[in-house]
Amino acid sequence: MVEIKNVVVVGAGQMGNGIGQMSLLAGYNVTLVDIKDEYVDKGWSKIDEGMKKLESKGALPEGTDATSIMAKCKKSTDLASAVKDADIVIEAVVERMDIKKDVFKTCGENAPSHCILASNTSTMSITEMASDSGRPDKCIGMHFFNPVPLMRLIEVIYSDHSSDESVNIGIKFAESIPCLRGDRYIAKVLRDRPGFICNRVTAPVQIYSNYVYDRCAEEGKSWQQLDNDSRGGPMPMTVLADYVGIDTMYHGQNYYTKTLSPDFAPGKVITKMFNEGTFGAKTGQGFNDWSKGRPQADKSVGKARIYKLKYPIAIMVNEACRVLEEKVTDSWEVIDKTMMAGMNMPGPMAPNVNTYERQIEVLNDLVELTGKEYFKPCELLKSGKWVDMK
Ligand code: 3HC
Repeated sequence: MVEIKNVVVVGAGQMGNGIGQMSLLAGYNVTLVDIKDEYVDKGWSKIDEGMKKLESKGALPEGTDATSIMAKCKKSTDLASAVKDADIVIEAVVERMDIKKDVFKTCGENAPSHCILASNTSTMSITEMASDSGRPDKCIGMHFFNPVPLMRLIEVIYSDHSSDESVNIGIKFAESIPCLRGDRYIAKVLRDRPGFICNRVTAPVQIYSNYVYDRCAEEGKSWQQLDNDSRGGPMPMTVLADYVGIDTMYHGQNYYTKTLSPDFAPGKVITKMFNEGTFGAKTGQGFNDWSKGRPQADKSVGKARIYKLKYPIAIMVNEACRVLEEKVTDSWEVIDKTMMAGMNMPGPMAPNVNTYERQIEVLNDLVELTGKEYFKPCELLKSGKWVDMK
């Protein structure tokens, strides 16, 4: 098996610099690539800032300091030459298939023949991305979660053509990447289906979220009031949306519209925010103002009383059954563990082993409320046979 020393991360944004930072901590040489010097410099400085923070806590690996680690982090705006000595490339560019295909093509033409090409896409087909790479057997998905330093999950994904060896190299590499909070959990994703496991299970919750955002806007309720409906999880609803990025959600919803169902089409609120460029934390403004850091709760404004937690839970149970139907994984325990490691949220399956029939009723109510057929309970959920797929 190839020994990985040189890692190239393409895209120096939030995900890319997080992947770069953790790869450096694992001891690899890292080259950070983007299309403009200012983007690469910004990503490099973000990593440097994180390393200095760890240094001040005495949390860097023994015998290292921030300066010695950052000396192993190169910068480049020339992808073709940056991948000349690469053992693995991780693509973390914008969620556009045409751009990702170009990245894979350039890497395929210029990287050494043993080099693994991995995509950090949130939703898109690795098989399609790899089609012009000249090495489809060496292309895999490697999906990290935001923020990469703190979220434990990495999904390692088979495309239609990935070899077992490439996936095993990806898993071994993923296992070597540290996490600042707890142990990494690596989920092996058996089929290249939109959203893989974690994002797929939560994907149709976005259909419901769009309904909720649009209703909230129509009724003149504030986002703070809406967030007061959804406190209790690791992040309230609009804060999480800003954190993930409105642009990422918008592109993802369009992709699911094409690949899963027209019901995923972005709602009015998300479309307006996307067109105005208010993408969330990364632009300083999304649903919330991020100019002074993470938005704080204001319970004094009361609740919007629009969002109801019972709906997302039923939606996730149904979608997890579709994930099992499509053989993306063969175990609902893997789905639950994946959700916990990727979103710090308990998975939907274990609590519903004895109560799933109630979820069928909730889903039928939701079809009535929203008019969205995608919420109809799937065959595996209705049959209850998923319970045995542990
Ligand atoms: N380098 C060094 N230290 C870092 C660091 C970095 N890069 N990033 C954070 N830290 C440190 C902080 O300084 C802080 O240190 P301290 O405890 O000494 O002050 C510590 O790590 C913890 O950081 P935070 O205070 O920011 O962490 P929180 O306790 O507030 O938790 C959270 C943050 C883990 C993000 C939590 O809010 C959460 O679980 N949110 C849910 C996030 C989620 O769902 N993510 C998945 C999104 S979907 C996705 O990514 C899919 C993709 O395809 C789009």
